[in-house]
Amino acid sequence: MKTPNLAVEIGPLRLENPVLLASGTCGYGAELADLVDLDAVGGIVAKGISLEPMPGNPPPRTVETPCGLLNAIGLENVGLQAFLDEKLPRLRRFRARVIVNILGSRPEDYAALAERLDGAGGVDAVEVNISCPNVKAGGAAFGTDPAAAAAVTRAVRRVTRLPVIVKLSPNVTDVTEIARAVEAAGADAVSLINTLLGMAVDLEARRPALSTVFGGLSGPAVKPVALRMVWQVSRAVGIPVIGIGGIASARDALEFLVAGAAAVQVGTATLVRPGTAVEVIRGIRDYLAARGLSAPADLRCP
Ligand SMILES: Cc1cc2nc3c(=O)[nH]c(=O)nc-3n(C[C@H](O)[C@H](O)[C@H](O)COP(=O)(O)O)c2cc1C
Repeated sequence: MKTPNLAVEIGPLRLENPVLLASGTCGYGAELADLVDLDAVGGIVAKGISLEPMPGNPPPRTVETPCGLLNAIGLENVGLQAFLDEKLPRLRRFRARVIVNILGSRPEDYAALAERLDGAGGVDAVEVNISCPNVKAGGAAFGTDPAAAAAVTRAVRRVTRLPVIVKLSPNVTDVTEIARAVEAAGADAVSLINTLLGMAVDLEARRPALSTVFGGLSGPAVKPVALRMVWQVSRAVGIPVIGIGGIASARDALEFLVAGAAAVQVGTATLVRPGTAVEVIRGIRDYLAARGLSAPADLRCP
């Protein structure tokens, strides 16, 4: 039986294997080290970082639904300086590639973050979050307008030589339009999907369950939407696509690779079973080996 080579190239970013931990679901990395083998995963996408610390939204800000999680964390984070001083040095100790998710309310905020992260050393790529549904300013606004998405991408591209991954929102009419716009603006890759806008009701209180009324739905419920969008985007652009959304098993991840993803991220499933990403890597290797395939790219449906 052939031993498959799991290494993949996401533009200029080389990963030992195609499985990453998704932003916001693995903290700043190190807190998960006792639960997940962080030397085994291809990469860790750290929690979204802004220039200044953000307190996030008031509680309640997560609700479990029968088929997924609704969250309205509101991008709570320690801010760039504390990330560089306290979080990044711990994250760098692992073999996993370090990808930092960045967010802001103006293109210049994103550029300032990318520039500082580039200069910091030990960061392997930035993931530009133009798709968070849970903040009032910026966030979703950039992710739903092709011109604004391109402006943020261009601002980041101009100031960094790090690989630039732009994370797309599913809360749009035509995701391929945004994907093409960020490709033309210099993105090295796109990742998708972020969460789908949703709502839950607290029937006892007879009011919305989340303090913000709406939140982002993730987990098994979003997988069919994510697969559809990965299929569409991977055929619309020439840059690699990273598939995200409801991946909870090797089988789920394999489906994304067939649909056109070059790599995948595991999000909500890590909160349920922290070892999911490591199981997914093993399962991809076994699947390829059992079928005599040599690399994840061999799975792609033409
Ligand atoms: C609690 C929570 C926090 C999240 N925070 C971020 C974030 O800071 N930045 C970001 O780009 N995506 C964030 N996401 C979205 C995930 O990275 C992922 O795109 C989404 O949850 C879909 O994947 P999943 O179904 O595997 O969770 C968050 C998701 C959850 C559940």
